[in-house]
Amino acid sequence: MTGTVLVTGGAGYIGSHACKALRAAGYTPVTYDNLSTGWEEAVKFGPFEKGDLLDRDRLDAVFASHRPAAVMHFAAFSQVGESMKEPGKYWRNNVLGSLALVEAAVAAECRNFVFSSTCATYGDQDNVVLDENTVQMPINSYGASKRAVENILENFGQSHGLNHVIFRYFNVAGGDPEAEVGEFHQPETHLIPLMLDAISGKRDALTIFGTDYDTPDGTCIRDYVHVCDLVDAHVLGLKWLEDGKGSRVFNLGTGKGFSVREVIDHSRAVTNMDVPYVEGDRRPGDCMKLVSGSERAITELGWSPARSNLAQMIGDAWRWHRTGHYHK
Ligand code: UFG
Repeated sequence: MTGTVLVTGGAGYIGSHACKALRAAGYTPVTYDNLSTGWEEAVKFGPFEKGDLLDRDRLDAVFASHRPAAVMHFAAFSQVGESMKEPGKYWRNNVLGSLALVEAAVAAECRNFVFSSTCATYGDQDNVVLDENTVQMPINSYGASKRAVENILENFGQSHGLNHVIFRYFNVAGGDPEAEVGEFHQPETHLIPLMLDAISGKRDALTIFGTDYDTPDGTCIRDYVHVCDLVDAHVLGLKWLEDGKGSRVFNLGTGKGFSVREVIDHSRAVTNMDVPYVEGDRRPGDCMKLVSGSERAITELGWSPARSNLAQMIGDAWRWHRTGHYHK
């Protein structure tokens, strides 16, 4: 079954890649985005409806005019550091905005809902492989806001039959191999794009945030997943809901962790260029190690994170870095 999918945050990094994947799978992705952090130029694969999650009238009008069969909800603020400085911003947009969206979906009888959550809901559980049954103990407001939305979905599932798939992302990286869309945040805080900017001289040297962690080389370890693999999982999640398989939580990671220094080494190999870096202090709010237990998505959804190796993620990001970018 194919149909229309309302994609909140469709003008953002992950949402725009999801729209491309949905289009390729025969769906019509309708982007709903207020452009606070997204780019109108990234809306290439279906209609665009500018709007805010907190604007319930606008949401109702968009549900009425497009009659989506499902929602994919990407729109959110996602910077851990900022969430600690401005928790209200995160609770208002991420939690109250999601509540308005969920209520609008239920009112429009749209009961299939795919939600972007995060490994930040697990918190700092060093040296534990985090699977979906790991207790959630977020240590920052961003993670807490995402966990709250998970709770909302669970309650609306019980009370209103809202079928939902929750994806808890690990570190999303890379980009569309055709560079039609790519990663472009302002401000940029993520390791790989900052590193590519440093390599090409667009920015000063990369600062490694902390070299005294209890890891083999002293730097933080993350589980990187290719954005195209990640959005493929979303299409599988949508089919899961369409097949009536019920609500489910899935981690999206590979189960393999790489340190900051290992990412730097891979970047040097992929770009054949030096990576200027300096060693700095730890960044507040950073967990030492976040690695996914990723079996459930593979066995139950049939997900195959085939592109999620560092060489490919950095290579695709590098191609976008040299050919792409939205307006500055
Ligand atoms: N890092 C540096 N220097 C930089 C930027 C990052 O050393 O200039 C390090 C970080 O300390 C971390 C790793 O590179 O160890 C990855 O950092 P990112 O900022 O790319 O990603 P995070 O792991 O901090 O954040 C990601 C998502 C968040 C999510 C979080 C869960 O982007 O949305 O994982 O902790 F909340």
